[in-house]
Amino acid sequence: MTYQDIVVETPEPHVGLVRLNRPQVLNALSVRLLDELTRALDAFEADPDCRVVVLTGSDRAFAAGADIQEFVGQSAVSMIAGHRPAAWDRIRRFPKPLVAAVSGYCLGGGWELAMLCDLVVASETARFGQPEINLGILPGAGGTQRLPRLVGKHRAMELILTGRPLTAQEAYAWGVVNRVASAETYLQEALALAREIAQKAPVAARLAKEAVLRSMDTPLDVGLDYERKLSALAFGTEDREEGVRAFLEKRKPTFRGR
Ligand code: COA
Repeated sequence: MTYQDIVVETPEPHVGLVRLNRPQVLNALSVRLLDELTRALDAFEADPDCRVVVLTGSDRAFAAGADIQEFVGQSAVSMIAGHRPAAWDRIRRFPKPLVAAVSGYCLGGGWELAMLCDLVVASETARFGQPEINLGILPGAGGTQRLPRLVGKHRAMELILTGRPLTAQEAYAWGVVNRVASAETYLQEALALAREIAQKAPVAARLAKEAVLRSMDTPLDVGLDYERKLSALAFGTEDREEGVRAFLEKRKPTFRGR
């Protein structure tokens, strides 16, 4: 498959890597870029060898938001009918663990994209913000809904109403990144995290992702019932048999995703 605005690699077994690649506009998320990203994720989903995907940008910018050039001439109707909502839904439904490796600007839709990832490794240069208010709009790809769930109402209000970005350390203190690494090592650290997850049982990892995401919008009793069913499902896998057998035989398990 050929892409113009992203680069897709498999840097090591079981780990996919997608680099956003529009450096001239700080990886602004054009419709074409989002479309290519969803196609790359489709391919990684279909590839049984792929267990975890890392999403990154450049050292200067993960992504500086939606492509503002594409806003010219838009109307309420064209925004509702456009391709963007479907692309965001597709990324939201990607079932395998997704790790964001963020350096530099991570603004607007860029941060909303990082928030759709399951783990976030940030470079110390990263800046996270929702600056849409400065353009006379508001976040439109989940920012007003996911940010309050992550940082609480008052902090989300401050970020969304002032547009002020967080430094990497502030983002860490507010719990929106897993770890902060140096500008030289952030991608390596994200890949190491991906490698660690890729060694686990792939079906269990998918089910665990699904269960944790469900916890964000489900009452506790419903979520607990859901977890119980997914947990029972994992008992039907060969990997569960292998994991338990390996423990009892005091050896490392070899998981096959079955
Ligand atoms: N959409 C389209 N183009 C963008 C962009 C975006 N979201 N963000 C940056 N660019 C372009 C700039 O227009 C500029 O293009 P040019 O060289 O043709 O003039 C290029 O990327 C570099 O950006 P520049 O503004 O010169 O870099 P900077 O280091 O001075 O500032 C930012 C960086 C991120 C602070 C600034 O570009 C910015 O505020 N971008 C918009 C962020 C935003 O509002 N995102 C939410 C969109 S809904």
